[in-house]
Amino acid sequence: MVLREFGEPDVLRVENIPNPDWGREDILIRVVAAGVNRADLLERMGLYPPPGPAPLYHIPGLECAGVVDQVGKNVTRFRPGDRVMALLNGEAYAQYVACPQDNAWLIPPGLDETQAAGIPEAFITAYDALVDKAGLKMGQRVLIHAGAGGVGSAAIQLARQMGLRVATTVGSVDKARYVKTIGAELAVNYHEQDFVQEVRAWSGSQGVDAVLDFVGKSYLARNLAVLRTGGIAVIIGTLGGAQGEIDLGELLKRRLTIRGTALRSRPSYDKMHLIQEFQQATASFFETGQLRAVIDRVFPLSEAPEAHRYMASNQNIGKIILQVSQD
Ligand SMILES: NC(=O)c1ccc[n+]([C@@H]2O[C@H](COP(=O)([O-])OP(=O)(O)OC[C@H]3O[C@@H](n4cnc5c(N)ncnc54)[C@H](OP(=O)(O)O)[C@@H]3O)[C@@H](O)[C@H]2O)c1
Repeated sequence: MVLREFGEPDVLRVENIPNPDWGREDILIRVVAAGVNRADLLERMGLYPPPGPAPLYHIPGLECAGVVDQVGKNVTRFRPGDRVMALLNGEAYAQYVACPQDNAWLIPPGLDETQAAGIPEAFITAYDALVDKAGLKMGQRVLIHAGAGGVGSAAIQLARQMGLRVATTVGSVDKARYVKTIGAELAVNYHEQDFVQEVRAWSGSQGVDAVLDFVGKSYLARNLAVLRTGGIAVIIGTLGGAQGEIDLGELLKRRLTIRGTALRSRPSYDKMHLIQEFQQATASFFETGQLRAVIDRVFPLSEAPEAHRYMASNQNIGKIILQVSQD
C-alpha cells in the first residue's frame, strides 16, 4: 500500500514495488498481518511523516507479524522461518518489510500472526506509560481514557496484571460492558456521565495516582482535577486537540506532573531497551493468555482504506488488523 499523495482513505493504493533492502543487522520479514494505528490515519493525511529521510516508497504501518524470510550477516537472534512480531517506524502495509533484529521478537507459541500483529504498538505504548512514565506500583489507581481502543484495552490488561486498580472512560454502553470484562473496575460513559465526579466517588474522594490520556485539549483540566496530590498525567495522544489551558497554580499546589510520550520518534536504542524490558516483563503472560491483543476486525490488505474509515468512526473495540498473506 503506497502513498503517492495525501488525503482521504482511497489514497492508499496497491502497487507492485521491489522488496526492501536490508542491512547486516536487519531481518526481512514476510508479513502475514499488520496492525492499523491512528498514526497511520494521520500519516495518510500528510500530518505525521516518518522519522528520518523520506523513504523511496511511502508505506504506512507501525507493526507487523510474520515469518523471517532473510537475515543480514550479523543477525544472531533469528533464522529464516522464525515467526516474529516487530515494532516499526513504518512500511508494515506490505508483503515484505525489513527492520533491525532488535525491533523484532518471537511470537509466543499458541498465538497466530493476526493476534501477534496487534501487540507491539498498543502494548509497548501502554507498558511505557504505566511503568516507565507513570512509575505505577501495585495497589495504586489509574484512570485510562479511551479504554476500549487498541492502546486502552492493552493498558487495562497490563494495569490489572500489575495489580493496579483501573477506572476508564468509553463512548458507549457496549464499550463500557466490554472493558469490565478485561479488568476495569469503573467504566464511565463520557457521553452520559462526568468522569471527574465518577472517578472521585470511586476513589473515595482521593483521586487517582495517574491518568493515561489520549484526548488532550478538552480533558486537560479535568485530568488534573481527578489526580491525587503528587499524581501524574501521561499524555499519549491528542485526539481531541493538542492545545489546552490549565491552572498552573493547581499544578504547584498539588505537586502534579504532566508528561508526554511518543514511541515512533525515539532513537532506535531507546526502542530496543523498551522492547527488551517489555518482553522480559510480559512474555509469559502472552504465552498463558493472561495478556492478549483484543482484535476487533480483520480486513484484507486491499481493504486498508475501509479499515481506516472504520477506525476513524470510533467503532472498534480493540485492534484493527490487516491480513497481508496467509501463514
Ligand atoms: N504516543 C505514542 O507513542 C502513541 C502510540 C500509540 C497510539 N498513540 C495514540 O493513542 C491514541 C489511541 O490510539 P488507539 O490505537 O488506541 O486508537 P483507537 O483504537 O482508534 O481508539 C481510540 C478511541 O478513542 C476514542 N476517541 C476518539 N476521539 C475522541 C475524542 N475526541 N474524545 C474522546 N475520545 C475519543 C474513541 O473511543 P470512544 O468511543 O470510547 O470515544 C476511539 O475508538 C491515538 O491518538 C494514537 O495516536 C500514541
